[in-house]
Amino acid sequence: MNLSIAMNPKAARGCFITLEGIEGAGKSTHIARLSALLSSLGIAVVTTREPGGSPIAERIRALLLDSVNTGMDDTAELLLMFAARAEHLAKTIRPALDSGAWVLCDRFTDATYAYQGGGRGLNPERIAVLETLVQGDLRPDLTLLFDLEPELGLARARGRGAADRIESEALHFFDAVRAVYRERAYTSPERFCLIDAAAPLSVVGEQAGRALRALVETRLGESADAFGAGATV
Ligand code: TMP
Repeated sequence: MNLSIAMNPKAARGCFITLEGIEGAGKSTHIARLSALLSSLGIAVVTTREPGGSPIAERIRALLLDSVNTGMDDTAELLLMFAARAEHLAKTIRPALDSGAWVLCDRFTDATYAYQGGGRGLNPERIAVLETLVQGDLRPDLTLLFDLEPELGLARARGRGAADRIESEALHFFDAVRAVYRERAYTSPERFCLIDAAAPLSVVGEQAGRALRALVETRLGESADAFGAGATV
């Protein structure tokens, strides 16, 4: 396959791609590879993460993950996630997308539905209200869900060092998180790509890369239609 791509310099908004999954599912490894793939295609790419991704949002992240803050009120946690997201969107994500760059984001609002909705048991309708308030109509173009048994993911994550405040939750919390993630993937198959993160690294990487290339092809087709450009993937 010829993967040379000429992006129009006045390109329309870039694509917004999110990576989701429980701890230890391998998102960090794959985000670096996917970023390299986009760069090799001549696409400007910004990689970022949530909570965090801008100076103030990173400070909110520290507050959220600090194990000292055990017993944080669930609604306070929810609001801090969205406060960080509002900053992140304003300072990092929207400017990047507006410049035509593609954004690869390690976790976004699906994590809020999964962790605060599933794990903490908060009402998803309330989350939806905040989602609209903070994001307007911005939603990811593609979400890669790295799906894994929580036992396996937690063993991997905890092997890396001291658990943060959320990683320290019990197994049933992560079972609920995973269930919401999977449910969201089943109800929005046009946006989600469900990846078996228990598979060997190379297989997981191939699945993620294939989904990303499919989005590139679709976008390229659209810009070729719009600008009459001939581009090949
Ligand atoms: P990580 O990015 O290092 O995996 O840690 C972020 C933690 O924050 C992780 O346990 C998932 C959690 N989280 C939420 O609970 N809600 C959210 O909306 C986001 C973005 C993350």
